[in-house]
This record gives sequence, C-alpha cells and structure tokens, in this order.
Amino acid sequence: MNREAPIGIFDSGIGGLTVANAIQKKLPKENIIYFGDTKHLPYGEKSPDAIIRFSKKITSFLLNNKCKIIIIACNTASSVAYEVVKKSAQNIPVVNVIDPVINSLTEFNQNKIGIIGTKRTILSNIYNDKLLLKNKLLKVCSLATPLLAPMIEEGFFNDQVSKTIIDSYLKSPVLESIDTLILACTHYPLVKENISSFFNNKVNIIDSSKEVAIHVKKLLEGKNLTSTKKTKNQFYVSDFTDSFVESAKFFFKEKINLKEVVL
Ligand code: DGL
Repeated sequence: MNREAPIGIFDSGIGGLTVANAIQKKLPKENIIYFGDTKHLPYGEKSPDAIIRFSKKITSFLLNNKCKIIIIACNTASSVAYEVVKKSAQNIPVVNVIDPVINSLTEFNQNKIGIIGTKRTILSNIYNDKLLLKNKLLKVCSLATPLLAPMIEEGFFNDQVSKTIIDSYLKSPVLESIDTLILACTHYPLVKENISSFFNNKVNIIDSSKEVAIHVKKLLEGKNLTSTKKTKNQFYVSDFTDSFVESAKFFFKEKINLKEVVL
C-alpha cells in the first residue's frame, strides 16, 4: 500500500470535520479526502438499511480515490454499518468512532456514565453493550437528542437557540447524577461549551475526535503508512451547501474547493 495515499473520512455532514481536524492536527502531513453525505442528512433518523447503503457507496468512492484507510467519522454509521464497511473495504483498515472511546476508558472509577447521540445510535445500544462488556458494574444511561445534529448543521452552536434546546434535553431525569458524559455524535463537540456549562463544568465530557486521532496515528505508524509529504485536502458532498464550505474553512483554515458528487 502507498503511504502517501490519502486518508478517507466520512460523515453525514459537518460533524466528521471535528474528527478530520483532530487527525490533521496529530498528523499534519496527511492528505485527507472528506465526504459529507449532506443529501441524506440526518442519518440518525434513517433506517439501518439506508445507512448501510449510503455507507457502502461512500466507501466505494473513497476506495476509487485510493484511500489507504477509511474513518467512519459518524457514530450513527459506526453503530450500524461498521461490519459492512469493513467487508467492502477488503484489506484497507477501517476505523469507527466508538471503539477508540470505549478503549480509552480504562479507569472505571466513574459512578454513572451518560451517553447522548442520535436516535439510531441510542437505539442500537452499542455504547451500553460495549461499556457493560468492559465492566458490568458500571451504571450507564443513554438519551437520544435528535434535534442537535440538524441544529448544528443549520449553524446554531453556542448561542441562545442551541442553549435552549440543549438545556431542555439535558434536564431529563435519565441523566441525573452522571459524572461522565460521552458525546456519541461527531456533531456535538461543536456545542461542548453549551453542554459543559449546563452541568456547571462538573461533568467529564468525552468527545471522540481526540481518541480517534490518537488511534489513527498509532495504527498508521504501526503499519508504516504515515505520509511524508502534504499536498492537499479534498472535500466532497452529495449536496452542495455554502454552510459546509464555511464550516470546512473554520476547521481547516484553508481555501476549500468543495465538489459535489452523485452517490
Ligand atoms: N455526526 C453523526 C453521528 O455521529 C450523524 C448525525 C446525523 O446525521 O444524524 O452520529
């Protein structure tokens, strides 16, 4: 495999940019191909079959563009389509955004862990199952917060609108007395400030982007697949939006030449 080949990253929209950005910071010489499936957003409301279908198509696109690794920068797709993507990718490594977070939680001194994510991620129970498999004594609770990803895609973050919606979700009795909260959606780091201040900064908020970036770095180094020269990042969407261009600019601080691709 060619170590100078790009890293393929996908999500339904801008959420995966939080992961792409963390990877770029850890591995500045890597060239990224990012795909946002804006046409089918939000994934959290779709059936597993539909998410699997979209994920397979994006995987073929990334493979046709000779990616050396695929990162599913979406919890919803990670929770229902990881095995299928792995199979379609054949010998190319595939990373989901769930396992690096679970594996990073080595010290189980948490009293009660809360999980927030899309309907599909929460319904899959994947976090609860994996956490309880690691330690069956853990207290785990989860809450679907379906308005958050569309709200963030619309540009509402860390303002009054996002605060009102976030507060009304987080005051749910389900999350009472948690000391740790996993942001099980890659869009949510964009509203981390709102979330943290709801809990008076007293809850440990876990955002997957950092853990995924650490994992990807180790994996590429272990396989001698780290790139030695930076050429360019490429950004694709299934439905062109100006807000996507703005978000990509915000994260990457570079000129974004966004291309639309029919899946
Ligand atoms: N960012 C995604 C996730 O991590 C998807 C949000 C959505 O499209 O519903 O689940």
